[in-house]
Amino acid sequence: MRAECAGTMDATALQINFSSGLSSTRPSNGIPNRTLCHALLMPGMGERYAAVPVLSRDHAKSQEEKTANRIHTMNYRKLGKTGLDVSEVGFGAWGIGKGMWVGAEDDESVKALHRAFDLGLNFVDTALRYGDGHSERLVGKAVKERSETIYVATKVPPKNLQWPAQPGVPAEKAFPAEHVIACTEESLQNLGLDAIQVQQFHVWSDDWVDQGDWLDAIQKLKKEGKIRSFGVSINDYQPENAIKLVQTGLVDTVQVIYNIFEQPPEDQLFLACQKHNVGVIVRVALDEGGLSGKITPETKFEEGDFRNRYFRGNRKREVYERVQKIAADLDIGLDQMAETALRYVLSHNAVSTVIPGMRSIRNVEQNCALGDGRGLPEKVVKQLKAHRWARNFYQ
Ligand SMILES: NC(=O)c1ccc[n+]([C@@H]2O[C@H](COP(=O)([O-])OP(=O)(O)OC[C@H]3O[C@@H](n4cnc5c(N)ncnc54)[C@H](OP(=O)(O)O)[C@@H]3O)[C@@H](O)[C@H]2O)c1
Repeated sequence: MRAECAGTMDATALQINFSSGLSSTRPSNGIPNRTLCHALLMPGMGERYAAVPVLSRDHAKSQEEKTANRIHTMNYRKLGKTGLDVSEVGFGAWGIGKGMWVGAEDDESVKALHRAFDLGLNFVDTALRYGDGHSERLVGKAVKERSETIYVATKVPPKNLQWPAQPGVPAEKAFPAEHVIACTEESLQNLGLDAIQVQQFHVWSDDWVDQGDWLDAIQKLKKEGKIRSFGVSINDYQPENAIKLVQTGLVDTVQVIYNIFEQPPEDQLFLACQKHNVGVIVRVALDEGGLSGKITPETKFEEGDFRNRYFRGNRKREVYERVQKIAADLDIGLDQMAETALRYVLSHNAVSTVIPGMRSIRNVEQNCALGDGRGLPEKVVKQLKAHRWARNFYQ
């Protein structure tokens, strides 16, 4: 049974409306936000989803009960000019590729994908480079086993394998047309799909707007129906380095790092995306796990896991201390940090979807449960502005 509800960004105002479905809502920043919220009631369940204040201790308990009772909601937002209604929580599929993340089990990864689809998630972000196609193959397998429409976004790696894109390197070195086409064909093979919904460049430099023949390749692939839309994944911590591209109208989506620590996308990029109707896919909302509240100075990552480098030296302690300050400031437990971090991102209207990296059913259930269209109360969002933190752990 599928019931539809009107969701708003205001924590106090969730209303369920079984007849109307769509509603135009006006969040705290005054920008109308048209959302569609599906409350999935499991067979035999008579109750409907009960609105509770976001982030109270009672709320945490209610989230657990909601998961245990298999009652779920998922809110959908427009992905910019693609016109797609994507689930506000999407699936980050880097970790399941097993390339730089150690510990995923394929069985569990596929189950996690299926559980996410059960819970209304309809957007998955993968890449040709994630485990050399392994992530794409798992995603394709799971998607093909479903009758629902699931939108898959993948990425073309730069031919010169330079992450991030370096200044002064011409577009021809990173994304020559024949490379873009060959990689797209390879991704289609891995996915086993006829078309890629969002094909993205895995790095970007705004110097490339007028360079090279990458645009010819994108237009050809679109014309042939092999890709439906085009986006770029913006270099780590360089949100301004795609604004020129956004302004050209050539791009349908951008993917960017945005989280409680990394707030600069709010300064200019999001405004440009809103103005030019470009979809925003948020990555690393949990700071590679730092904002999950689970990383302590004693945390050990498996050998070969890239987080040994990301959290090297004193970084785990630095993150842990900052996360504790956030929890103290909001008077929440560390076990509410992942929810807070994801809701923070979803509180911004420019954001179309957030794609937490997920490898387990547990994380899928927790994360999908908060794609309920409510974000955080405005007061909490304001409090979190003070926790902005400029640094680059990828270096
Ligand atoms: N350049 C690029 O284009 C680029 C770069 C990075 C990422 N991405 C994309 O963005 C996605 C997200 O980034 P990410 O995976 O690197 O980082 P992330 O989403 O910030 O963090 C992933 C980590 O958060 C943990 N986690 C997820 N949900 C949780 C929950 N409810 N409670 C506690 N911990 C939770 C995961 O746990 P487990 O360890 O248990 O799985 C994993 O360790 C990627 O999967 C990928 O699709 C793109």
